[in-house]
Amino acid sequence: MGIYPAGAMSRWSPETRERARSILARYPEKRSAVMPLLYLAAAEEGYLTDEGMAEVAEWVGLTPAQVQSVASFYTMYKREPTGRYLVSCCTSISCMLLGADEVLAAVEDEAGVPAGETDEDGVITVEHVECIGACGGAPAVQVNYELIEGVTPDTARELVRWLRSAAPDSVRADEMQELFGTRRSFDWAIAEHAGAVGPYPAFEPYGTTDGHP
Ligand code: FES
Repeated sequence: MGIYPAGAMSRWSPETRERARSILARYPEKRSAVMPLLYLAAAEEGYLTDEGMAEVAEWVGLTPAQVQSVASFYTMYKREPTGRYLVSCCTSISCMLLGADEVLAAVEDEAGVPAGETDEDGVITVEHVECIGACGGAPAVQVNYELIEGVTPDTARELVRWLRSAAPDSVRADEMQELFGTRRSFDWAIAEHAGAVGPYPAFEPYGTTDGHP
């Protein structure tokens, strides 16, 4: 149970508060829920605000500074709004050796913005990231944290064009792998077909993607 059982003081929607209570109930120690609640806070407001982190601190019984120290360690906790589709290109060693720099350059060129920026329509944000755990299927790219392996410069361009033209409500790794991927690292074990609606990891048990615009 969070400290906002009646919701009187919370900035979050009733649905988000209910999810927060449900997540907290899984942990013997409230502070163990800090990371999934940070995703809830980001999904609630579109990105992670100071106020969102302060609310997480209240829920889990930590100080805002302690929560911020967790959030600032992980690049997935975005402190600024991103575009509707966050395209993350891995440029670590395995991907780099197999052409990640060319893939990133293709994404940047097709999106019209360099890594770290969002296009003027707010549709595509490009970033380069460290290893995303798909080295065997390098070069690897994620869209809203949904994975695509064996991406080439040409399919990377197709991917960006598809995001703009098809404008899918949610993106799914299996669909994008079929359309834009080639070699996969292994037979993916996680049969999670919920897809990512917003630029937050599609950890459906946390419910962080539902309802995000
Ligand atoms: S180096 Fe790119 S996924 Fe590991």
